[in-house]
Amino acid sequence: MNATSASLSGTTARAPAVAMLRLLGGFQISQALYVTARAGVADELAAGPRPVGAVAEATGLRPDLLRRLLRSLAAERVFAYDEERDSVALGPLGHTLRGGTDESVREVALMWMETHYRPFGRLWSTLHDGVPAAERELGRPFFDWLGEDPDRVAGFSAAMADLMRAVRRDAIDALDLTGVRHLVDIGGADGTCLAALAGRHPWLRGTVFDLPHVVPAAHDTLRRAGVADRVDTRGGDFFQAVPEGADAYLACFVLHDWNDEQSTRILERVHEAAAPGARLLLVETVLGRGPAPEIATMLDLTMMGIVDGRERTLEDWRSLLAGAGFRLTRAVETASPMCVVEAVRTDR
Ligand SMILES: C[S@@+](CC[C@H](N)C(=O)[O-])C[C@H]1O[C@@H](n2cnc3c(N)ncnc32)[C@H](O)[C@@H]1O
Repeated sequence: MNATSASLSGTTARAPAVAMLRLLGGFQISQALYVTARAGVADELAAGPRPVGAVAEATGLRPDLLRRLLRSLAAERVFAYDEERDSVALGPLGHTLRGGTDESVREVALMWMETHYRPFGRLWSTLHDGVPAAERELGRPFFDWLGEDPDRVAGFSAAMADLMRAVRRDAIDALDLTGVRHLVDIGGADGTCLAALAGRHPWLRGTVFDLPHVVPAAHDTLRRAGVADRVDTRGGDFFQAVPEGADAYLACFVLHDWNDEQSTRILERVHEAAAPGARLLLVETVLGRGPAPEIATMLDLTMMGIVDGRERTLEDWRSLLAGAGFRLTRAVETASPMCVVEAVRTDR
């Protein structure tokens, strides 16, 4: 055995430990990504490679430390670092940290590190008493804490809009709105989803329904999309009541925030409000389905740590819906990690 193959086999023998160390170090990578996203490093590289010194000057970061950070993230394929030229370029994943592009998740990087990161330090207690780590860390339920500060609300809605464009667009494209006249988007946030749907379906009327301090942001989105004449907004609490009489209701990425008992209450409010035979469309993950099942399981952890929610299997969805007077009719897998779960309102 020559020296090279010996060291290679040594590496192979240690591979599980090396792989585990990479997982364990994930918290450092998350923070390194946050720093670069917040400083706008990827945006500085949009036009091509640049000297590290120039990027440091443009972003206000220390060049000696930025160089080391970029080298670490080059190992994760985020940037490409050229040692000889001391220059840096976007790597295969780097463009997703630019702002305002279709594949951007920059707002998610900001939101996760600013709101989710610290609570996850309390996951130990969650696994013992079931109280979401965020609730323990923040002293109140996550959505209550979020609603206390307009900047938090704006950051959260911007992150949701990023997720919509980057990983849910295919699911939104897969929504079958044949015959739907009026669609209410329950928990519709800043209106990104309904704006896209109304743009695509010129006959569609819609209502963005969300908490009273969230929906004002939708006015701008709807106006910019040129659909404000067909899509209105309503503020309220979906545990109390949702807009009445529509022939279809959409809940995109909403029920996974809540446990079964809470989700049943939301669905019961939809059942009370919906016209007979109305359709219900859920855009959610279905555990074990879709092209990126690791996203569903990762989000399941997010739901455990931040809110008392969960991702669900197809059977979970079927029985949750049945318990609130809806019959699951089909689940459509899409090119994204999300599925469209379709149901119809039944008489109870
Ligand atoms: C995970 S976000 C999903 C937003 C949007 N549907 C999307 O796909 O990007 C959940 C939404 O539910 C809203 N929400 C939370 N509690 C609510 C309540 N009690 N009544 C109405 N909306 C609520 C939040 O404000 C937030 O916009």
